[in-house]
Amino acid sequence: MQAASLDVQLGSRSYPIHIGSGLLDDASLFARHVGESRAAIVTNTTIAPLYLERLRAALGERVALVKILPDGEEHKNLAVLSGLYDALLEARCERSCTLVALGGGVIGDITGFAAATYQRGVSFVQVPTTLLAQVDSSVGGKTAVNHPRGKNMIGAFHQPRAVIADIDTLSTLPAREYAAGLAEVLKYGLMGDAPFHRWIGANAAAIAARDPASLIEIVRRSCENKARVVAADEREEEGGSRALLNFGHTFGHAIETATGYRTLLHGEAVAIGMVMAARFSCELGWIGADDVREITALLAGFGLPVAPPSGLDAQELLSLMRGDKKSNAGRIRLVLLRQIGEAVLSRDFPEPALVALLEAFTRMSEAATA
Ligand SMILES: NC(=O)c1ccc[n+]([C@@H]2O[C@H](COP(=O)([O-])OP(=O)(O)OC[C@H]3O[C@@H](n4cnc5c(N)ncnc54)[C@H](O)[C@@H]3O)[C@@H](O)[C@H]2O)c1
Ligand SMILES: [Zn+2]
Repeated sequence: MQAASLDVQLGSRSYPIHIGSGLLDDASLFARHVGESRAAIVTNTTIAPLYLERLRAALGERVALVKILPDGEEHKNLAVLSGLYDALLEARCERSCTLVALGGGVIGDITGFAAATYQRGVSFVQVPTTLLAQVDSSVGGKTAVNHPRGKNMIGAFHQPRAVIADIDTLSTLPAREYAAGLAEVLKYGLMGDAPFHRWIGANAAAIAARDPASLIEIVRRSCENKARVVAADEREEEGGSRALLNFGHTFGHAIETATGYRTLLHGEAVAIGMVMAARFSCELGWIGADDVREITALLAGFGLPVAPPSGLDAQELLSLMRGDKKSNAGRIRLVLLRQIGEAVLSRDFPEPALVALLEAFTRMSEAATA
């Protein structure tokens, strides 16, 4: 089985991403990144029965603490974080301790934020177990917990020491979660890597079947794309390229908020958002109608939704898009496609055209359910 590694180039904060099969059992790989320091594993009640013992064995006597959190986005909060600090202190974890996040984006985000803040910052290693975490959330150093007033409102930039992505863990991922991760994978091709987009199209059946070699390839190329953007714009500065990673997300966030975060997974909302952004790019004369059809068919083929759920209102979506934190001062900025593989951040479009697009999409779902 082949494996891959790449580096996120951030000067003194650079770190490797290892992608492969069987990495969870690779004690020497963990030894290389955790060193002689003690380790605290953070995971959740779903992942622990599946993968905890193997990671614990690979880390051996370094393990000073295992903290098993409840599963779910609703537990990515300050109360659960506080319980994690308590456990670290009770286990007498010092500043030299390494936190090891075993799980999806929720575990990675809360563990990363604990690592950013515990004793003014300790090392951490990401062991992502969802496709979304392997291709997106474990890379780039954003860490956070939610506040009752908004998602990811309390956080810090804190880069991991290493990311160790064992693609075997994806075999137990529910189908919907897998497809949601694929939406982010497709995003990388569309926003910045046309050859990767073509490769996905040509290998869609193997990807859908979770063929191991294809998994390594999609995780590697996704991480390469994210690493390149993060290296150029680590902290998402105004006007920086990191904003382009939000292709499909301004539409997607509005749909997620309008549906109360209950109906759709994040990646599903992003899939719908990418179709809307692609269609809008076509209406502006940038990409072709055949491109839009191809993107829509690819997403639908992976089992992702391509139109918003029924009952949404175009005006409500518009005002949510105005309030999205990625659009400043009420002026909506959208990541659109100049061509496949080239995203641009644009506010250069007539708002009535956007309203018409939102109306067309909300009517489309009414018609589909009528
Ligand atoms: N830091 C970033 O840059 C960044 C980027 C994108 C998303 N995020 C965050 O990531 C979170 C979403 O991450 P996610 O999609 O991984 O969700 P998640 O962490 O909630 O995982 C989804 C579900 O899959 C389960 N699971 C995880 N691995 C599994 C496996 N191998 N087998 C079976 N079940 C498994 C989890 O327990 C959970 O029930 C959100 O909180 C979001 O804000 C962060
Ligand atoms: Zn996303």
